Amino acid sequence: MKTFYIETFGCQMNAHDSEKVIGTLIGEGYSRVETPEEAELLLYNTCSIRDKAEQKVFHRLQQFKRHNQGKKIAVLGCVAQQEGEKIFDKAPHVNMVCGSASYNKLGEMLVQLETGNRRVTGLSVDTKDPFDTPLTRRDSPYRAWITIIEGCDKACAYCVVPFTRGPERSRTSESVLREAREIAAAGFTEIQLLGQNVNSYRDPSEAGWDFAKLLDAVGRVPGIRRVRFTTSHPRDFVKEIVDAIDINENLCNHVHLPVQSGSSKILAGMQRLYTRDEYMRRIDWMKATRRHIAISTDIIVGFPGETLEDLEATLDLLEQVEYDSIFSFKYSQRPNTSALKLEDHIPEEEKTRRLAIVQEKQREIQMRRNQAYVGTTEECLVEGFNKATGQWIGRTSQNKLLNFISAGSADLLGSYVDVRVTRAGPNSLAGEQASV
Ligand code: 5AD
Ligand code: SF4
Repeated sequence: MKTFYIETFGCQMNAHDSEKVIGTLIGEGYSRVETPEEAELLLYNTCSIRDKAEQKVFHRLQQFKRHNQGKKIAVLGCVAQQEGEKIFDKAPHVNMVCGSASYNKLGEMLVQLETGNRRVTGLSVDTKDPFDTPLTRRDSPYRAWITIIEGCDKACAYCVVPFTRGPERSRTSESVLREAREIAAAGFTEIQLLGQNVNSYRDPSEAGWDFAKLLDAVGRVPGIRRVRFTTSHPRDFVKEIVDAIDINENLCNHVHLPVQSGSSKILAGMQRLYTRDEYMRRIDWMKATRRHIAISTDIIVGFPGETLEDLEATLDLLEQVEYDSIFSFKYSQRPNTSALKLEDHIPEEEKTRRLAIVQEKQREIQMRRNQAYVGTTEECLVEGFNKATGQWIGRTSQNKLLNFISAGSADLLGSYVDVRVTRAGPNSLAGEQASV
């Protein structure tokens, strides 16, 4: 029996890619083990979105070397694509370097590895095919990811993804719906549609569906109770998506719409292709719905040229939108990106200071917003149980964490439970099961 061990970093796309890579390996007769020591093949699925991602990867590869008695080592994902064959120079014990656009060739590459080829690469991004696997080893028993579009055709000035994941390629609506039905038949009730920019989904088959149509159809697959999607680009986020959510209750009332900055000047520098006003129009669509749509975003502070006035504009935007949650980051320089050429880089300590200001502002907003849920009853999908506190861990359709106690003794894992909210903090709600 051939054995493998895999480690994964990065976004949900990457985590889901690993599920498909694992499926492919199992299909090729490998079995998964839980420690690098036990494995013959070590795989490392990497992310290069921020910080010193490359350095961290080489550090970890150095640690892998210690286990390397006749083991094969493969580097996958975004650092693999970005660094390419340079990885062999810096870490000569690596045997395979493969970016996500080449995963379709993984089977062949494994054969090359097994037949003694010491240096195998999959680095072309010149592909039209999404990564479809007959077998996917899904991690969660309740929530299943489905990739609908891979790659990215935008050119945000700070972002490495168009280089690491290649050009956009959508799956056919038929294959997405087939997978959704299989997922429902396997007992999953929640689906999360994935892509670097799901909004630019375009069905390559004759049906020619756009994202709103696909989203609605997935929400109508029998057995599926919740559909989420990530991530969106505001430029391609059309009103039909909001309309679909408003009408179809199986579509979760949560939208993650990364804004990056509240200053139109910085947005232009980032090549985001929208102004603050255009972004706000999309927020207004969501605020005008019958259902209450929770909104989250990504913020970058310290982009080159960001003045205190620009930062103020971002803080003002946070207040205006009243986001339910945000992910905020310090700008970090990435290889190949056009922002490298910009002047007026912000010192690291100043970026740290700005990040803290943004996070403090958002904390106040979340505290205030979450407080408004006290006294309401929310439906939760139960995802876990915290032995230490005796609380079940649930998630609402709006993607809020809701920890709750239950007077009953039933195993609630994977079920949908109505919970009365009794307390609220900035990052979660707490309550008790409404009726047992
Ligand atoms: N520096 C800081 N943050 C970045 N992001 C992407 N690239 C960078 C970068 N170079 C953030 C953006 C994006 C999220 C996934 O990561 O906010 O939406
Ligand atoms: Fe990281 Fe971006 Fe690659 Fe996802 S697409 S793994 S976030 S670099």
